[in-house]
Amino acid sequence: MGASASKLRNSESNLILPTVEELKRGLLIPETGFIDAPPVPQPNIFPLGWTHETPKLAEIYERAKVEGFNPSAIPWDTLDPVAFSADERIAMMYWWALLSNFDSSGPAVFARAMIHAFETHEEDAVRKCFFSITRDETNHEECCQRAIQRLVPNGPQGFTPKTELERAALNNIDWLYHNGGRYWSGFNNAVTKYPLAVLFTSFMMGEVASSTLFHGMARATRHPVFEQVFRSIGRDESRHLQICITLLEKEWPGLSDEYRGFVTKQLRAGFVFLSMVLWEPPMLFWKLPDYFLTNHRVLLNIARKAGLGILTVDEQADNWRVAIAKVRKLLERWHIEFPAIPELDIDGVEVGDITDADIIPVF
Ligand SMILES: [Fe+2]
Ligand SMILES: [Fe+2]
Repeated sequence: MGASASKLRNSESNLILPTVEELKRGLLIPETGFIDAPPVPQPNIFPLGWTHETPKLAEIYERAKVEGFNPSAIPWDTLDPVAFSADERIAMMYWWALLSNFDSSGPAVFARAMIHAFETHEEDAVRKCFFSITRDETNHEECCQRAIQRLVPNGPQGFTPKTELERAALNNIDWLYHNGGRYWSGFNNAVTKYPLAVLFTSFMMGEVASSTLFHGMARATRHPVFEQVFRSIGRDESRHLQICITLLEKEWPGLSDEYRGFVTKQLRAGFVFLSMVLWEPPMLFWKLPDYFLTNHRVLLNIARKAGLGILTVDEQADNWRVAIAKVRKLLERWHIEFPAIPELDIDGVEVGDITDADIIPVF
């Protein structure tokens, strides 16, 4: 009783006599002025705001709203598992599980990046573009999920292997996901540590590579369902690449020398990480048993012959060279050095070993 009475007196003493106009509105204007709200400790998604700096990003986001595809609308029932042998089914499922190591981590990876963009108060279109990539990657994940279930129910890890090939496939998938887990830990640390320019260079390697990969596979596959999936995902990945390039053109000019060297290293990390699905992995970062690559090649050969659309190892290497040449050309404009990729006879700067903490690229 005493406390509320004094509160009333205090607030009464703070009041100036309201004008007739204010009385009508019911406003309370303290005599000493309004009290400033304490600043929100940062990083935080508050205070909210919608700054507008890069019209091109807003344009891409508008396109993303209508260009995306619906994985449920793809006629999965025409992908008849009986049309393939048991070996072909497991081998094709293996490739989709391999892809999912990259594409099915996309939703969580970009959702995390999107939250980070909110916390650092990036402009509205940047946040919305991140959201659109999260949306797209969820569709790509669904395609992996549906293809896997269609070919090997309870795959990629919940089926009971009955043959040597099935046991080898399951064990390789276990190892792939073990390494995917190491990537996730590294990414989680990196996402809040580096400026957008660094993060997006890593992202760009993935987007250049994946748009090239899916367009190539859409041409090479012999199954209409896979063709539709690859074409749809390829269109999304090209849009992701445009988002990356637009963002980097905005961010790179302000990049400090401290981070320039790190960007160069990120490009090498992108090559090391993504080569697992785009070509063959260099023995850096990847922790795999010595039989992994032999069994990987056997499985991919079966899937390739079954018409999945996997390019030959030489075609894949050529694809990488084309993708890398594109990235290199972009970097030249901003005087960022390119790393040496001796695996593809590409010369450049030596960046040393690639560790778990270096791997932040996405697909
Ligand atoms: Fe993707
Ligand atoms: Fe992507």
